[in-house]
Amino acid sequence: MCKTCWTITALLLVAILGMAYKFIIQGSVEQASDGRLSLQLETTERDLVLGEMRAFLVAVQQINEGIVQDDMKKVADAARKVGRAAQEAVPGSLMGKLPLEFKKLGFDTHTKFDSLALDAEQFGDKEQTLGALVELMQNCIACHAGYRIDVVSD
Ligand code: HEC
Repeated sequence: MCKTCWTITALLLVAILGMAYKFIIQGSVEQASDGRLSLQLETTERDLVLGEMRAFLVAVQQINEGIVQDDMKKVADAARKVGRAAQEAVPGSLMGKLPLEFKKLGFDTHTKFDSLALDAEQFGDKEQTLGALVELMQNCIACHAGYRIDVVSD
């Protein structure tokens, strides 16, 4: 058996695993001065993430408004707008820069908005909806406590 071939194969495997680790799990991050992890993004990538964030904020406001006005259809519509279907197509290059934990939190938040929409429609229970929103917003807090965005290059 060709010893050099095995060595090359092993080295390639290590390189692939290393890249997979960086791309899927670690992402492109730096330790920031405020103790958070800073996502190292380009301007357009930052704009995309922050645009999604502002949509989250609109949804939270609309859900509360729907509850106050006793309009559960408004609640469901608002929540669904930021559910998984509405999740913007994130380019692969940006995906690779986001740490796994960040992606999981983001995905879970979209999923929770979907189930809030479904429950609001099915049960129309304001207390329950408010409870779901309170719990969902723990994700907003957790992610903001752990991550920030800095623009590195364009
Ligand atoms: C997966 C992580 C994550 C989740 C979950 C998350 N955010 Fe954010 N959000 C961020 C990051 C990172 C920033 C940029 C913060 C910084 O650079 O200081 C941000 C910024 C924002 C901003 C500022 C937008 C702008 O234009 O400057 C708003 C508003 C916001 N988030 C709302 C929310 C709300 C509401 C929720 C929950 C429904 C939420 N976010 C959930 C990561 C997250």
